[in-house]
Amino acid sequence: MLPSVKLSVVLLAVPALCKQPTAPEPLAAPLRELEFGQLNFLHTTDTHGWHAGHLLEPSFGADWGDYVDFASRLREKLDGDGKDLLIVDTGDRVEGNGLYDASEPKGLFTFDIFREQHMDIICSGNHELYKQNSSENEYRITVPAYADSYLASNLDIRDPTTGELVPLAPRAKKFITQNQGIRITAFGFLYNFDRNANNTVIRRVEHAIQEPWFQAAIRDREVDLFVVIGHSAVRSAEFDMIFTAIRAAQPDTPIQFFGGHYHIRDYRRFDRNSYGLASGRFMETLGFQSISGLSTKTSRSASTPSFFRRYIDNNLYSLYHHSGHNASTFHSDRGRNITLAISEARAALDLDQTFGCAPRDLWMARAPYPSKDSIFSWLEEDVFPGIVNDPARSDRPRLVISNTGAIRFDIFKGAFTKDSTYIVCPFTSGFHYLKDVPYEKAKHLINMLNRGGEIFENVDPSYAMWKLGPPEQMGVKEDVIATNPLQLHDLSSLSQVAMASGVRLTPGYTTRDDAGDDGDDTIHSPISFYRVPNCIQSTINPSQVALDGEGVVVDVVFNEFIEPWILLALKFLGLEYTDEDVGKYMPEDNLTTLIARWVSENWKDNCKD
Ligand SMILES: *[C@@H]1O[C@H](CO)[C@@H](O)[C@H](O)[C@H]1NC(C)=O
Ligand SMILES: *[C@@H]1O[C@H](CO)[C@@H](O)[C@H](O)[C@H]1NC(C)=O
Ligand SMILES: *[C@@H]1O[C@H](CO)[C@@H](O)[C@H](O)[C@H]1NC(C)=O
Ligand SMILES: *[C@@H]1O[C@H](CO)[C@@H](O)[C@H](O)[C@H]1NC(C)=O
Ligand SMILES: *[C@@H]1O[C@H](CO)[C@@H](O)[C@H](O)[C@H]1NC(C)=O
Repeated sequence: MLPSVKLSVVLLAVPALCKQPTAPEPLAAPLRELEFGQLNFLHTTDTHGWHAGHLLEPSFGADWGDYVDFASRLREKLDGDGKDLLIVDTGDRVEGNGLYDASEPKGLFTFDIFREQHMDIICSGNHELYKQNSSENEYRITVPAYADSYLASNLDIRDPTTGELVPLAPRAKKFITQNQGIRITAFGFLYNFDRNANNTVIRRVEHAIQEPWFQAAIRDREVDLFVVIGHSAVRSAEFDMIFTAIRAAQPDTPIQFFGGHYHIRDYRRFDRNSYGLASGRFMETLGFQSISGLSTKTSRSASTPSFFRRYIDNNLYSLYHHSGHNASTFHSDRGRNITLAISEARAALDLDQTFGCAPRDLWMARAPYPSKDSIFSWLEEDVFPGIVNDPARSDRPRLVISNTGAIRFDIFKGAFTKDSTYIVCPFTSGFHYLKDVPYEKAKHLINMLNRGGEIFENVDPSYAMWKLGPPEQMGVKEDVIATNPLQLHDLSSLSQVAMASGVRLTPGYTTRDDAGDDGDDTIHSPISFYRVPNCIQSTINPSQVALDGEGVVVDVVFNEFIEPWILLALKFLGLEYTDEDVGKYMPEDNLTTLIARWVSENWKDNCKD
């Protein structure tokens, strides 16, 4: 009898191995359905290491193992109906979560976890290319893992052994879908990124599309659909150029774009036969796209194809519902195995190690700046004055300037862990400084950085000011950012129905895009967002000198990333400095370690109850 008792214990324990053990249970919510088509896609982008899912937000609690099972369940269902499913990822898989960043070397665990998902088309983001090591990891690990699906239409790498410049992966591929026989030509682009390490070369999109291989590919008449994936906003000059080039060669062949980079949900209509989907960020969103009415290798479609998109909140409630499964039928050994590998990696990296506890939520965009709930006000008023202090320059008055893009995510009330440090600030750059800058000039820097956009960009477009703020803000149309909370009449009619029938809506994505306001799978109440400046500044003045006095000089301390803007701004102010004048400030530290230290010193006692 004993063995069977043991067995039942094992069986009972197994269902717990779906999503991460500490992730919250998803909340039931009214859902909009997926409309399956002849051809269907699942799309992730900008996952930034969040393969464990979100451990503090029920809407996004599913992990990469659950996603693998979701894709398998959809594929079974679609195969049964003779339809096709393709899986796409558009890059920025690295940097932004302890699961990737906390290991030495970085990514020790995530490459093997990620590659467990089948991919049909995949490309690189900009984050894979900041460091030589991470691009070489693409070349050595991810490209071979996806030998038939990784595309690099405008990206070359210096082979680490031969030193030769070679395409990171094939430029394009042509294939025929398994069930429907749809003939697809696919590309994988990267926007015109220019801050990469010097072992990679990004060919500007306007040049790449002139190259003979591309010109030949777009002239091929035996193509039913072009699929252009890219680490690029769907509303970007780069995608415009690709669209125009394909249309010049083929006036009606359908084109499906998949993009990202701005970290937003978005859907763009290019023309009646072409659409582009952007599927958010951080494993919050699984993008779903379907297309019907396409020609195939054996039949010519007479109609205009129809396109459909849905943004799936990445939680098990949604995944069970859309796949037609439940907790006892959805999960496979394979998916559970990936979930287990993720939780073992998190344990090995000690990501739950707690530095202190946040007394309240601190928001990047969900609270106005400045305000007591703004993460940027907290940095300016509490963190920088408390911690940015190089012993060699302690007594000097200083201006500490950071771009707001250096912060990646909100801080939730409660435990602030080792994982949180990387989530909030994954960037490796440290602080730099210029010493003894006349205050009467330096005091204008912050205004120039926040309001001087045009004068910087006139010097060179590479000084574009949007690079300083959070990426989410680049893609947001002015009219969507409210300075006042959105009102209830902004709710879609479906959410009004849901509310009228007594369902309590939780706050979340309420996306508006070119197809309307019904793209999100989960009906949420809206969240208001506020615009933040490009840069923030703390004035630290230990000896309380009168800064406006004659000849007063200050240290200008800034995060390394914004050095080009600081030097140019000072030049406008009549001060000629070069990179040679810049020194390292607190050389052992970076924003990540400073925040962690501040939290251990100031929030330690909040965890007691
Ligand atoms: C680069 O990667 C190699 C191999 O994974 C590792 O040994 C090395 O420590 C990494 N270097 C850095 C700076 O992370
Ligand atoms: C690339 O950058 C590294 C480190 O900054 C430098 O040592 C190397 O000489 C550079 N290589 C080329 C080809 O410019
Ligand atoms: C899950 O679905 C299966 C098959 O439809 C059904 O037999 C089973 O009762 C369901 N389980 C739960 C817990 O709902
Ligand atoms: C589970 O994962 C291990 C390595 O993490 C792998 O060797 C094994 O094949 C996996 N099993 C399944 C069923 O996927
Ligand atoms: C910040 O510096 C610390 C210590 O030098 C280093 O371990 C850590 O990796 C750096 N932060 C990031 C996000 O790389």
